[in-house]
Amino acid sequence: MQPVISIRNLSKTYASGFQALKGIDLDIQRSEIFALLGPNGAGKTTLIGIVCGIVNATTGTVTIDGHDHARDYRAARSLIGLVPQELTTDSFETPPATMAFSRGLFGKKRDDAHIEKVLKALSLWDKRDAKIMTLSGGMKRRVLIAKALAHEPEILFLDEPTAGVDVELRKDMWAVVRDLRASGVTIILTTHYIDEAEEMADRVGVINRGEIILVEEKRALMKKLGQKQLTLELVAPVDALPATLDRYKLAITAGGRELVYTYDSRRDRANGEHTGITALLEDLKDSGIRFSDLRTSQSSLEDIFVSLVRN
Ligand SMILES: Nc1ncnc2c1ncn2[C@@H]1O[C@H](COP(=O)(O)OP(=O)(O)O)[C@@H](O)[C@H]1O
Ligand SMILES: [Mg+2]
Repeated sequence: MQPVISIRNLSKTYASGFQALKGIDLDIQRSEIFALLGPNGAGKTTLIGIVCGIVNATTGTVTIDGHDHARDYRAARSLIGLVPQELTTDSFETPPATMAFSRGLFGKKRDDAHIEKVLKALSLWDKRDAKIMTLSGGMKRRVLIAKALAHEPEILFLDEPTAGVDVELRKDMWAVVRDLRASGVTIILTTHYIDEAEEMADRVGVINRGEIILVEEKRALMKKLGQKQLTLELVAPVDALPATLDRYKLAITAGGRELVYTYDSRRDRANGEHTGITALLEDLKDSGIRFSDLRTSQSSLEDIFVSLVRN
């Protein structure tokens, strides 16, 4: 199938001389949820800004459903809705008014039924008469989504939709995004949260320092990212382990005072397999190895980048 967005050799050097994007190539498939994962400053907002026509590219092309995003700006832009990273809304307006205005900007005919449908889907219909400034942060964010959907775009960009948002609201946002995808909208979201990419995406692209360093199906990527370590602090130091523990491939660290078990935290969920922790703890007990404390750690995004870049 033809990708709905095709990005070729896209680069951006800001007036300051800083090169924020370095030759990006990326295809987005129709009706997928694509998560662009990367640390702060990686270039996510810049990339979205170029595709949406807010930032000028230094080199490269973007084709949106066959339309060149620069030459055929209007057609390309009307296919896109953008939910920006910063909360910016017209605070004195009501949600339906801000949507109607946005619709007008795209030259679309008034359609109260569409506005009602979107506001209901985002649980904002009850707030249709409220001034946006009186709404909670979470509602304001949903108003931004409603506004981005006002002109019935086929593609929706969400720039860090859940940064600084509490856990409950994040879950609501994820449900909203899934519903949108189910209605046929292609979704591109940026995030610096691994769990968000894991939860939401069909495919994940990792961007670092202006370069896409990996694009993969979520499943495959999460297998790589899912490595977790369990560290056991021992009551008495050991210098060797009994053969019954061989299969756990434990590392003896801290001069024999700690054992480290590396496992895939996502295995059980993905394939009905187990992490092996329960069995390990039982076998340790049977071997008479006692521990006084334990902790788990997970590779940070930073670690993952380092290892990805190194490879
Ligand atoms: N208008 C600008 N002028 C100069 N540098 C910028 C500008 N906007 C962003 N940058 C720089 O480009 C890099 C990428 O920024 P951005 O695309 O916002 O990253 P992200 O969204 O991944 O956090 C950052 O180092 C940022 O400081
Ligand atoms: Mg950003």
